[in-house]
Amino acid sequence: MVAIVKIKNLKKSYEKGNIKALNGINLEIEKGDFVSIIGQSGSGKSTLLNMIGALDTGDEGTVEVAGYDLTDGKNLDVFRSKEVGFIFQLHNLIPNLSVCENVEIPMFETKASGKERTDRALSLLNLVGLKEKAKIKPTKLSGGERQRVAIARALANKPSIILADEPTGSLDSKTSGDVLKLLIDLHEKENVTLIMVTHDLNVAKLANKQIEVLDGQILGTDSQK
Ligand SMILES: Nc1ncnc2c1ncn2[C@@H]1O[C@H](COP(=O)(O)OP(=O)(O)O)[C@@H](O)[C@H]1O
Ligand SMILES: [Mg+2]
Repeated sequence: MVAIVKIKNLKKSYEKGNIKALNGINLEIEKGDFVSIIGQSGSGKSTLLNMIGALDTGDEGTVEVAGYDLTDGKNLDVFRSKEVGFIFQLHNLIPNLSVCENVEIPMFETKASGKERTDRALSLLNLVGLKEKAKIKPTKLSGGERQRVAIARALANKPSIILADEPTGSLDSKTSGDVLKLLIDLHEKENVTLIMVTHDLNVAKLANKQIEVLDGQILGTDSQK
């Protein structure tokens, strides 16, 4: 197995050590895999995902993702813009930019020209079935459509890894099914590693592997396929 994520003894506490969000995590995730991280609210799922995406750092232990050592704090901006795409529960789109401009945002960190940015954004919007909505503002879209725009934005810089934190957490079940189907299709087509946090067992089961977290520790891993 080629591990894209290697975590050793990762610990993180808050409130001067009173809240132990991560309590000695050891984890390896295989390149190209689709895994879900499941656990009840407050178990440490988001904290763990944020550390895989270099949005946060631990107190102890090591995190290596896509060959970058995230523990030493070097090249984190390069890592974030080249290797990871984030999808959050709330899409975090910028309301006064068009749908197309929202998808272009991560590309401002690269050397892509204006035309290259727009062309890529339009092809990604085509991929998520929203090309005809490129020019409108995200406020005019439904919840599911906004989340599809967020998925297109996450793919902008061709990341090797997609991190999704409760991506269907604020959607109804039908829309949620559509968004999950899109994520599964993308995982199959784009050769990307997909790590999805959820507290919903039915959603978690869609992944090849489920990693269960409780009180900041990994309880176990279940392989489905
Ligand atoms: N910035 C923070 N400050 C203080 N406590 C935090 C912070 N972020 C998370 N926590 C606490 O750490 C624990 C794990 O949180 P989190 O990773 O968000 O859990 P989950 O995503 O599984 O719901 C919880 O007890 C939460 O309240
Ligand atoms: Mg969370």
